[in-house]
Amino acid sequence: MRLLVCARANYNKYGVFNHVITVLLRETADGRGIILSRKLFTVGPVNVEPEVLQAMTKPMITHRSKEYKELHGNIMEKMKKALNTDQDIFLVGGSASVLLEGSIRNGVQNKSLGITNGSFGNRSIEIGELNGKTVDKVQVPWGMAMKPEHIAGKVGKDIEMVHWVSNESSTGVFSDSVALAKEVRAQNPDALVMVDAVTSAFAMDLKLKELQPDALVFGTQKALALPPGLAMVVVSEKMMERSKSVTNKGFYTDFQKLKKQNDVNYALTTPPVSLMYALDFQLDRILKEGMAARYRRHQEMADIVRNWAKEKLYGIFPEEGYQSNTIGVLNRGDLDFDAFHTKLKAQGYEISNGYGEVKEKTFRIGHMGDLTPARVKELLSVMGDIMEEM
Ligand SMILES: Cc1ncc(COP(=O)(O)O)c(C=O)c1O
Repeated sequence: MRLLVCARANYNKYGVFNHVITVLLRETADGRGIILSRKLFTVGPVNVEPEVLQAMTKPMITHRSKEYKELHGNIMEKMKKALNTDQDIFLVGGSASVLLEGSIRNGVQNKSLGITNGSFGNRSIEIGELNGKTVDKVQVPWGMAMKPEHIAGKVGKDIEMVHWVSNESSTGVFSDSVALAKEVRAQNPDALVMVDAVTSAFAMDLKLKELQPDALVFGTQKALALPPGLAMVVVSEKMMERSKSVTNKGFYTDFQKLKKQNDVNYALTTPPVSLMYALDFQLDRILKEGMAARYRRHQEMADIVRNWAKEKLYGIFPEEGYQSNTIGVLNRGDLDFDAFHTKLKAQGYEISNGYGEVKEKTFRIGHMGDLTPARVKELLSVMGDIMEEM
């Protein structure tokens, strides 16, 4: 098997050098090539750096060993430092949804309020309903941010939890969770606050010391830039108190059982240990970069995409002032996205289609994790060339 690296210098229309496109190919028996290198600018799973993948290949250990306890403890310490929180964090094998479901099952006996402005807000409402809870709904138009005025007078005494998505991945809207939580607690101090932070944690500052989430959920495959498979939740003491009296929590995400094990640096059930090696390694890299620098880098990448979208297309979909720094949702106009994406993928780059109700009107560029402004510029330059060709 022959591996080939093909490189092509790319110049803009004024003949000025832009960047080098490199593609790794494996030669096939008929002399053609299959592209091996993928440049993911997707909304998740996202690009994982080779050295991070490599960290997963350490020898296996059992999850009831001294070595595991050390790994678990190190991860918790680093994660709390990165997120600037003293709250407990639980981890379980699975995708983030398992802990969105778990948070509702631990925090709600009868009734919650779900605020939604897109597909993933709707998903949490569906999770509540499928678990037998009554979910009051506040529907905010897609593309608009959820704001305190949307829930004015809606958080009655019977509402046990209010849940929403911090960064709605279908629309690229980032809502102010601190302001929403303040409004919830002003109306009903007993109501728990659950935030789906799947595409904002580790990329945008969620100000956890102010937010004091009762449950804040995320997974490994987004801004942590790791393979999928591990879900995490930041929990409050209030959530733990509530969970004591709520019935039918199931076993897998029973927060009481998780806490008992977590307090001694154990997982409740067998965790994906290889992924935890990579998480531990990645947290070192993240802390080395520094969270302020990480948040700035995400802002910078988002600005580059927004400006490009304004210049080359029809701007971005979400409301001004509430735009995500991890996902650019671009108005596609009359662009034939499928044809465009096929050409882009032929050059080794991958972005994401529109999602949910705005699938046909938009497409999405993921700019999170370990991507850099230079790599985003490279992608946009290739995209610009393809658009000119079409
Ligand atoms: C905002 C948001 N919430 C929830 C999910 C579901 O996460 P998972 O697939 O990890 O369960 C996603 C997935 O893309 C998401 O973007």
